[in-house]
Amino acid sequence: MRQVGIWMYQNGGGDVIEKKLVKKLYDRGIDTITGLNLRDATAKNQGIYINNLKLNDLDLFFSYNAGEQTVYQMYLYETLNKAIPMINSYDSFSITEDKFKTSFLLSQNGVASSEFYLCHRDEKEKIKDIFNKWGKMVFKPVDGWGGVGMVLIDSADKFDLILPFLNQSDFRFFYVEKFLDYDGSDYRVDVVDGEIIGCYGRQARDGDWRTNITSGGSVIKRELNDDIAKVALDAVRITGLEIAGVDIIYDRSREEYIVLEVNGIPAFATPEQEKFGLDFNDKKIDKIVELIDKKTLNK
Ligand SMILES: Nc1ncnc2c1ncn2[C@@H]1O[C@H](COP(=O)(O)OP(=O)(O)O)[C@@H](O)[C@H]1O
Ligand SMILES: [Mg+2]
Repeated sequence: MRQVGIWMYQNGGGDVIEKKLVKKLYDRGIDTITGLNLRDATAKNQGIYINNLKLNDLDLFFSYNAGEQTVYQMYLYETLNKAIPMINSYDSFSITEDKFKTSFLLSQNGVASSEFYLCHRDEKEKIKDIFNKWGKMVFKPVDGWGGVGMVLIDSADKFDLILPFLNQSDFRFFYVEKFLDYDGSDYRVDVVDGEIIGCYGRQARDGDWRTNITSGGSVIKRELNDDIAKVALDAVRITGLEIAGVDIIYDRSREEYIVLEVNGIPAFATPEQEKFGLDFNDKKIDKIVELIDKKTLNK
């Protein structure tokens, strides 16, 4: 029997989703072992182990836990993926964990993304020049999430104010983006295996410029259109993610949809969000099961 390892988030209804996945995989002749946190793994010449389970003997590893990926977990993720298929692949996942790498890759491949600037921490004056040119910008940790750690810089005073903090920080480099002219709402397009599964959006809380739920944003219903679908699928193809959630914003000055970021572990709708009307969880589960089946078939 084929055997697939799973590390899946358990909060927000993740445990229920995991049970459905396990059942549907079993119905296709695929055995699963859940709760495999690479944090608990050790490695020797023969393989990478959690207890007595040799991970590199699995047919596939499904990693779907957005909790912080430590350096150790990423290190083993990378190594394990040299031996067996993983969803998402290490290469794609590690790119999309980084906002700079993602925006760079997308813009190099003709996908509209935010305007960014990156420089070494000792070259801060250059950011001042960029700020003078843009007038309004966002400082972002390249590996942040949930809107945490981002600072909106919308005046010269504010710029001078945060400089001492940046000097004290342990950032080796600084990443900034031009502030987008948008209406405070975004689109999230869920994609599995190159197919769009669902589309919804988020609306920033009054007075906040971030749409993240963790920053007080709320989920809204959204209609997909051809332009959004195209930019989402292009972004997914270029990053190579097999499961993705693409965050898109309509830039009013550029009059186009731009990809803000691509998420390699897009959460399923929570039970509350399902009640609200986000109804694509089952479709997403089916598509993931199909994908895992397909990828492990010739083993
Ligand atoms: N360049 C920008 N201009 C305007 N708003 C932005 C910009 N970048 C991010 N935001 C807002 O902040 C939110 C969080 O930014 P994002 O890059 O998606 O980081 P996170 O990983 O923390 O979600 C976005 O959903 C958007 O609402
Ligand atoms: Mg985001």
